[in-house]
Amino acid sequence: MNFILRGFGHYAPEKVLTNADLEKIVDTSDEWITSRTGIKERHIAADDECTSDMGYEAAQKALAQAGIKPEELTHIICGTFTPDSMIPSTACRIQEKLGIKGQMCLDVQAACSGYLYALQSARGYLCLEPDSKILVVTSEVVSRRMNWEDRATCVLFGDAAGATVMTSGDTADGPHVVDVMLAADGSLGDLLTVNGGGSAYSYKLGEAIGPEYFVEFKGREVFKHAVRNMTDMCESILERNGLTKADVNVLIPHQANLRIIDAVGRRFDIPEERIFTNIARYGNTSAASVPVALSEALETGFVNKGDLVLIPTFGGGFTWGSALIQF
Ligand code: UT7
Repeated sequence: MNFILRGFGHYAPEKVLTNADLEKIVDTSDEWITSRTGIKERHIAADDECTSDMGYEAAQKALAQAGIKPEELTHIICGTFTPDSMIPSTACRIQEKLGIKGQMCLDVQAACSGYLYALQSARGYLCLEPDSKILVVTSEVVSRRMNWEDRATCVLFGDAAGATVMTSGDTADGPHVVDVMLAADGSLGDLLTVNGGGSAYSYKLGEAIGPEYFVEFKGREVFKHAVRNMTDMCESILERNGLTKADVNVLIPHQANLRIIDAVGRRFDIPEERIFTNIARYGNTSAASVPVALSEALETGFVNKGDLVLIPTFGGGFTWGSALIQF
């Protein structure tokens, strides 16, 4: 079966927070953030804007590009670690905003690897029901899970949403997913957490919330594992498909840190001009980063018909993966 990606869309909130703005909030500098991460600015959701609002915006664009009406959808799969609420799922909220009913709606939580986990889930559902039309949407309001007093984390993330529509079909119909490989190692879960609000942490009505309600991580440890696992998974997916690094036209990695991206690019001898990055403008948007990058890479002509695109991701859990998309 061919897994066709018929439409791509992305959305970012209007408000932009620059490194200069952050200098006024925490003890940091544009120089430190730029040299250590490559980030210059990030988008921040409005007070009345939530994850499903942004996912809805991205979904509308992807559906329009696909030429598929919302009511034709059969499944909505939403990747996010910042859902609107515990219940209902964000996928259900997006369904409601699209004005449709009846579809299977499911949230997938794999932190920054959320898009590839959602994409692989979509491939599974498509195998079960080949006539499916599946919305894969990832959306994150990471800003609400930031401790704005912690300079080690709050400078890194941003808010955004990305969406794609997947159906079966002919490879001439559009880009298609060649393969996806996923992995996880729960024994390293404590290196990147948002513990507050979960069942492992008791909390009572009226209690003040603490730093555990926000993203906490051991940056250097995450960095090391990210480079190693993203690289290993890229090697595995190329090998499994009888390909070599010379076959890859474009690298579109999860946008966590420009130094991580550069390190992965170097291991695959992929020159800078064939690596798509938008981290300077978005920061790390977690599960949204890959579909936003895919959508922008298409929109700007960075990726063209015939290109084989390699996509590595890494996130909390730890979770990681790689995908090959043939444009
Ligand atoms: O998508 C998956 C999630 N991604 C991640 O978790 C990110 C992975 N990790 C990273 O990207 C990098 O490790 C960071 C960007 C988080 C940190 O870069 P680093 O080069 O590993 O710096 P560090 O954590 O070792 O900190 C170096 C210094 C420390 O000061 P001392 O101890 O050397 O005096 C920090 O206190 O930089 C200091 N520092 C800052 N200084 C200015 C940490 N954050 C900041 C800041 N501004 N925002």
